Amino acid sequence: MIEEYQKVADKKELQEGGLLKVEADGEAIVLSMINGRIYAIDAVCSHEGGPLEDGTLDGYEIECPWHGSKFDVRTGEVTNPPADTPQSIYEVKVEGNNILVKKQGKRKASSQIERQEMNSYVNQ
Ligand code: FES
Repeated sequence: MIEEYQKVADKKELQEGGLLKVEADGEAIVLSMINGRIYAIDAVCSHEGGPLEDGTLDGYEIECPWHGSKFDVRTGEVTNPPADTPQSIYEVKVEGNNILVKKQGKRKASSQIERQEMNSYVNQ
């Protein structure tokens, strides 16, 4: 389990629209760059373990080469079956030429709620 940000790659290793497999703490991760932004998703397909790094990227969707499941690299959500379990995703930080990742917990939903609360507070 990745608790802190870890360097996994140099920025120059990843191209716009490209995929790059990296590892952190023994976990295989696929990095992708879309519109200059980097996303990190579990490389092992939740369906039957296919290698997402060998898949294809179309917009924000990555397609598994084995049975065609698709996942949104921003959220890990399944966008096309047969997979029915979302992929884990990772928070990404770029520091200089370094790409760092940290496993995202289940905090996303609550941080969104906090943001909404903050907005409604600001708007009052
Ligand atoms: S292993 Fe990925 S779709 Fe089946």
